[in-house]
Amino acid sequence: MSKNELLDAIAAEVIVCPKCRLSKSRKNAVPGEGSPDSLIMFIGEAPGYWEDMKGKPFVGAAGRFLTVLIAEVGFSRSDVFITNVVRCRPPKNREPLPDEIETCTPYLNRQIKLIKPKFIVTLGNQSTAYIFSQANLPFSGITQARGKFCEASLLGIKITVFPTFHPAAALYSAKYKEQITKDFQLLKEELIKRGNAKR
Ligand code: URA
Repeated sequence: MSKNELLDAIAAEVIVCPKCRLSKSRKNAVPGEGSPDSLIMFIGEAPGYWEDMKGKPFVGAAGRFLTVLIAEVGFSRSDVFITNVVRCRPPKNREPLPDEIETCTPYLNRQIKLIKPKFIVTLGNQSTAYIFSQANLPFSGITQARGKFCEASLLGIKITVFPTFHPAAALYSAKYKEQITKDFQLLKEELIKRGNAKR
């Protein structure tokens, strides 16, 4: 099977996944989407209202801002891979619970192992905490971790992890918006430095 077919097979499992309580209240599971050969993977927390309605990641207001940020780095959404720590919307957009994360993240790990991205950009506290724990990196909060490139060995793959705030934070705070924008500028510079920029 090709990488694309294997990613589709994971998505097909996610769509009918019955493994945790979030499957009971979802309208649509959100497996993630993008290129199987993506250089960069973006990992958010969990689907919200619009993602649950459409079965696609980051399609609400935060997603529109993420799409702009990705374009500023020189990529389109279809060049990269966008997914979440958990694949079903938690009721009232609460944070996913530890057992929901534990049940759902094998899907994320399989996607990472297949795509083997050079960079993982973690969006917010939850995804950064999860990826740092998998990479045995110390984590003391997103404010400390953001904007720094961390060379990690993750699931047996060498990956540069780059945490930033969740794009939803930019919707209610100009300060966060400025800091996320600055972090994406750093990402662009790093990609150029490493010869990985698309344009
Ligand atoms: N917030 C997330 O963390 N993920 C989405 O897909 C949408 C909003």
